[in-house]
Order: sequence, then C-alpha cells, then structure tokens
Amino acid sequence: MTYRISSLEDYHDTYQRSTVDPEAFWQEQAETFSWRKKWDQVLDWNFQEPRIRWFSGGVLNITENCLDRHIPTRGDQVAILWEPNDPKEDAISLTYRELLAQVCQCANALKKLGIKKGDRVVFYMPMVPELAVAVLACARIGAVHSVVFAGFSAQALADRVNDAEAKMIICSDFNQRGAKHIPVKKVVDQAMAMGCPSVERVLVHRNTGDEITWTEQDVWWHEEVPHQDVTCPAEPMDAEDMLFILYTSGSTGKPKGVVHTCGGYMVYTCFKFKNAFQYDEGDVYWCTADIGWITGHSYIIYGPLLAGATSMMFEGVPTFPDAGRFWEICEKHKVNQFYTAPTAIRALMAKGNDWPAKYDLSALKVLGSVGEPINEEAWHWYDTHIGKGNCPIIDTWWQTETGGIMITPLPGITDTKPTFASYAMPGIQPILVDADGNLVEGNDVEGLLCIKFPWPSMLRTTYGDHERCRQTYFSAFRDLYFTGDGARRDKEGRIRVIGRVDDVINVSGHRMGTAEVENAINEHPAVIESAVVGYPHDIKGQGIYAYVIVDNESDEIAAEIRSVVTREIGPIAKPDKIQVVPGLPKTRSGKIMRRILRKIASKETSRLGDVSTLLNPEIVETIIEGSKEA
Ligand code: PRX
Repeated sequence: MTYRISSLEDYHDTYQRSTVDPEAFWQEQAETFSWRKKWDQVLDWNFQEPRIRWFSGGVLNITENCLDRHIPTRGDQVAILWEPNDPKEDAISLTYRELLAQVCQCANALKKLGIKKGDRVVFYMPMVPELAVAVLACARIGAVHSVVFAGFSAQALADRVNDAEAKMIICSDFNQRGAKHIPVKKVVDQAMAMGCPSVERVLVHRNTGDEITWTEQDVWWHEEVPHQDVTCPAEPMDAEDMLFILYTSGSTGKPKGVVHTCGGYMVYTCFKFKNAFQYDEGDVYWCTADIGWITGHSYIIYGPLLAGATSMMFEGVPTFPDAGRFWEICEKHKVNQFYTAPTAIRALMAKGNDWPAKYDLSALKVLGSVGEPINEEAWHWYDTHIGKGNCPIIDTWWQTETGGIMITPLPGITDTKPTFASYAMPGIQPILVDADGNLVEGNDVEGLLCIKFPWPSMLRTTYGDHERCRQTYFSAFRDLYFTGDGARRDKEGRIRVIGRVDDVINVSGHRMGTAEVENAINEHPAVIESAVVGYPHDIKGQGIYAYVIVDNESDEIAAEIRSVVTREIGPIAKPDKIQVVPGLPKTRSGKIMRRILRKIASKETSRLGDVSTLLNPEIVETIIEGSKEA
C-alpha cells in the first residue's frame, strides 16, 4: 500500500529522505503498485532538452492499478458515488467491481469502433459517471484521452481536436446545469462543421434525452457499450507512454496540450492523494472540480481510485436548487474530505451563514482548497462555518503541468496558516529566484517560484511542440522548472503563492491567457487593437478587464465583444469590464505596458510609477479618466 505519513517527525524524515535520494524514495513508492514488468531505470533527466523519464522500461496499465488490483479486497466497496444535478433524482454508486465491468464494456466498444493504442480521443461531456468510465476505458486500451471542459465554445473544441488530431469525440446530448439543459452535442456538431478531419466517429451518450441532430459519424453509447463483454484485457503500456493530453492556457498563442505519461503520474497522484487528504479506509471523499480540469483528472479519477477510495462526483452547481446544495450533499453522503475552489467558497460565503448552518457537517475531517490563492476572509469562513473549527484546511498549490499536489499542509500533521500553501510535499524542492535567476535565500522573502528536481508526475512535453515546452518552462532559469507564479516565504519557511507573474490570469480558478482573450476580441470587425489584464474581483479572484481601440464605437460594442469571446473561447473568458480607449500605453519599441493597465484596472493609479519613457505618456491620463465609467 502507498505510504501515509503519520506524524510531524515522520513528515520531516520522509521529506529529508525524498530529497537526499529522490530515486530511492520514488522507487520505494512505485514498488507498491502492480507492474507487468519492473523498470530498468528509475529516472533519466535533463531539463535543458527537456528530457524527463521515470521508471522507463517499466510496463503497466494504470487501470489495473485503479480497478483490477482492488477487486479481491474491495470489489464491493463503492468506487464512484455520483450525485445528480437534481436532488430529486437518485444518486448512483458504482462499486469497484461494477466500475471495472463498465470500463471494460466501454473499452471493448472503443476497440470495435476502431480506437487503438496511441489514438487520441477528445471528451466533451458533463459530469456524468460515463465520463469517468470512458476516460478509464481509453486508459485501458492505451488510447490517449483529452478532456475538454464542456463550457468551451465550438471553436475552442475544434482547435483542441485538431491539435490532438483526435480520431473520436465522446459527448453527451445535453448537459444539465441547474435548471438548464445545455446543448452539448450541438457544439460538437458546430466544431465538426468547422472542420475536424481526423475525427472518424462521435460517440454520443444520452443524458437528458432532448432531441439532437444526427449525422453519419454518430454512434449512440447505449446501442454499443452495454452490449459488450464485461472483460477486456488491459493494454501493456510503457511507463513513459502517453496517458493523456490536457489543454491549458499560457501567456502566448493558443492553449497548449500538456502531456502526462502513465507510470510517474500513477505513483505520484496516488501518494499525494493519500497524504494530502489523510484518507482513511471507508472515508467518503468529494472533490467538486470538473473532470475537464487537471484537478478532476488527478483528484476525482486517478488519485482516489489508485488509493482504493470512494470518490464522489457531482453533476450540478453549488447554488441549485439553492445555496445549500454542497452542504446538503455533505450531510447526505457523510462526506469526510471536501475539496473545492476559493471561488466557490466566496460565492457561497456571499449567500450567508444560514445555508451551511442547516446541515449536519460533522462527518467532515479535512477541507481542501485549490486553483487560486484563497483570501483570508474566505479561509476563515471555510474554517468556521464549514469545518466548525475542527477540520484542517489544506490550501493545495499545484498546476496542470505538475500533475499532482506540490505544496500543501498535511492535515493534522503540519500547522496551517490562512492563505499559505505552506509546505513542500515529499520529493518536491521548491525554490525562489529573482528575475536574474539568483537564488533568493532565507525567510521573509519573495521571488519567482521554481522547482529544482524532477518529480514523477511532471509534464513531459507539450503535444506536437516540444520546443514550446522547453521555452515555456525550462528556458527562463537554467536547470529549473519555472512555474510562472510568484511566491513569498514567511519567517518560518511556509510558502504563500501570490499569483501569476506572466500574462496569465486566473478567473474563478480557471487559467486564461491574456493573448488568447485578446485574439478573440480582435475577431470583432470594429476592434483595431485590444489589451487584456486581470484585476481583483470579489468572487472570481480575478476578473477580466479589456481595453479596446475601435474604429466605430457604438452602444452595443461591449455586448458584441462579449458575444465574440463567448463564440471564440466560451463564456468563462468573457471580459467583466470593457473600456473603449483612443490608444494604449506603449514603450518606444511598441510593446504594450501592461503594468500600467493592470494598475488602472485595479484602481491603483497613485502608484503608476514613471510613465515618461512611454511613446505616448499622455494616453495614461485619458485612460484613467475613462476607467471611472468602465
Ligand atoms: O497560479 C497558480 C494557481 O493556479 C495555477 C495553475 O492553474 P491550473 O493549471 O489550471 O491548475 C489549477 C489546479 C491545480 C498556478 O500556477 N494556483 C493553483 N493552486 C493555487 C494557486 N494559487 C495560489 N494558491 C493555490 N493553492
């Protein structure tokens, strides 16, 4: 079984061991899994290429470790507990035995439909059990899954399908969110009409039963999957074979496909799940993330199932039918570990204390936070009104690229401090550097957050563009992985992640590249140029502020720009504020001075600094004046 740290002393010892000899440490962890063949080499790495290989030569299938391995000991234990959008409908539980059978049926259907090892399959689905089943079915046969969050637009979906050259899309007919039925299949049809030449089949799961348009590539899930055999041999995979691609935004260009591989990802996510949540046998664990993001991959599906946990999946939204929904579910299923995003906490905090007070939350033991900095007020509300002062809060810092949790308190073991992700997990060596790459030593300091040594679940490449991976993460500082985040180390050595230092904004815990949003805005025919920055937002953490130069200003321009962004990316990228400006502050070399725009958007205009070196310093006053109405 995966090792679980049990005391502060144990944490210090384990951490020490894991950094003095990381290979020995991770080898020991890897031994606890089931391998068809053991590895030839634990680690082979070079950050300059970058080349990162863990357990190479090892052969395994991650689904044998998530499912088959547990059958003798916990075949009848619930693996996935699914709570529907509408509380009047029944929850569904799938035991490990049932989940394995369904995964095998789906895997056989995928094979029958022509999917083979290495083929890419894109998902565009709501949070239904079939999503988890089909993701695991891909892993079973060695197909590479790429889940696209079902709130992205047809254009964004088509871009991802084409970048991955996916052979199949798996979708639902409609998605239920709150009182609404959202047409998911229609978005897939639109993406296909834009041109997705690699896609041979669209496998459609019937969720709501609302009417959809049928095309010749479409296949109904219910006409194929349930008729298949309930056993399916697991494809032997090299530890370094691709497991999945997950698209995420960066500071330049289109989203990039972060690639994770089988062996290291398996070892790491399981270890971190057990330790970060201090999961005990029989606990009910609930992560509210969507499987379209890395949190859902690592901490709804893989981490918990590898650890033999009961993982809950929720189809709905926190405020339907009312703002007590999360707490009602916690009471109903006696949830022990609850993991959510600061945005959700802030949104529910705004609805008042009466909602959580109505429910029995006494089963809760650990509360988690992920995806963005949690502010002090939200942290205390979470602690007082949800944890009742009895549940340690783990503020977990990590990224799509890191695959699993990197910096977090260990509940009940290390201390917690509001807004601090605090302590490096075993095997993780975070350091701070200044802009020139010099190590920032000592405590009570700030710097750029980098990681010094490889860990098993780090990204291996960006799909189809290895150079981009090198440039983005490994070129800023020699022999370091650069996270893109700025961080502070307090007097006692705890780490607080402050936020992105690059042109990435974090809206409700979702990453958006400013360039990506600008490109979308520029699709509006009246827009000549635009600049997008983040600004503090009470609920979302950061809001999107767009400055636009237009050649023909009309009353409808803001609404039109929002609808263009919704079409190009999806509603999550819609600017909160749009200000029409006559010009943008530029350096003499023509670069937009975003620093100034960020200050104006944040209403920090008294601290703008020297603007005299700008090409057009006079524009700054005009923008400040205009910002009062934005
Ligand atoms: O800026 C950091 C922020 O979210 C970014 C990673 O986003 P993504 O790849 O979408 O993954 C989110 C879920 C793992 C980071 O670069 N971030 C994530 N967790 C925290 C955080 N910022 C502060 N505190 C956190 N706990």
